[in-house]
Amino acid sequence: MAGAGISTSAGIPDFRSPGSGLYDNLQKYNLPDPQAIFSIDFFKESPEPFFELARELFPGQFKPTPCHYFIKMLDDKGLLLRHYTQNIDTLERVSGLNGDKIVEAHGTFHTSHCLACGKEYCLDWMKNEVFKGGVPKCDVEGCEGVVKPDIVFFGEALPKRFFDCVKKDMMECDLLIIMGTSLVVQPFASLTSRVPDTTPRLYINREKSPPMDPFMDLLMGGGSDFNADKEGNYRDVFWEGSCDDGAQALATLLGWGEELKTTVKTEQARIDKETKDSSAAKKS
Ligand code: APR
Ligand code: ZN
Repeated sequence: MAGAGISTSAGIPDFRSPGSGLYDNLQKYNLPDPQAIFSIDFFKESPEPFFELARELFPGQFKPTPCHYFIKMLDDKGLLLRHYTQNIDTLERVSGLNGDKIVEAHGTFHTSHCLACGKEYCLDWMKNEVFKGGVPKCDVEGCEGVVKPDIVFFGEALPKRFFDCVKKDMMECDLLIIMGTSLVVQPFASLTSRVPDTTPRLYINREKSPPMDPFMDLLMGGGSDFNADKEGNYRDVFWEGSCDDGAQALATLLGWGEELKTTVKTEQARIDKETKDSSAAKKS
């Protein structure tokens, strides 16, 4: 289970870290509240702030992190049942992780759809439109609808694939690794309580997210039942630190430490070269 914290070392801000988190840096859009930028009702009224932000965050300008390559390594070694991510940056796909192993619970920039007629658009089309500035509009004769990336806004349902996979995977999961998420957004955060009671749960994060108290849980349905401090805890382990360091430490314990370091180096060099070649090709 992953959140924005696995991509911050790639240069993509997370949402709630005080100061650096996205929600602390949206003043210029004078929103009713920071999360409005990802609310479907606000978007339908005024899509401009979202697309201005998209220009800053657009996938394709960032490289996967060591943590992303650790997740890919788990799959290469036949140990990854599924990778549930809240991230929309597509870095799991860029790392080469098999799409069938990825559940993009909060959608993705990979495709977009016209809100009026439903026509689908690809990542390159959206990227082009976003960097042109303004609001991407449908090119179907007489449609003129706003085209929205397939990321899940507050007020929208999560993708069907999320619910289909959860039904299958959670009871099969024999080790749950949670990385780089504050575990405050539902229904994603509640996945921690969907695995069998005998499944050990490892939480790698810069800070311990406050387990919701039962009343708040009832009221808000927020938070997660992960709690390494609770009385009689027998299966929750909290590893405090960066996702990259946590992934590297676990890989080393598994005897894959050098292999992970080499993979990260070669892969990031390959992407740098590809980016350089493609910008040189554009210039010529
Ligand atoms: N290493 C470890 N932990 C990190 C790192 C890092 N390099 N960088 C950030 N973190 C931690 C932060 O301390 C925080 O606890 O990752 C967590 C990120 O939490 P959020 O910013 O809330 O991001 P996330 O949990 O992914 O948000 C969930 O909220 O706004 C919605 O849809 C959006 O998918 C997003 C959802
Ligand atoms: Zn249309």
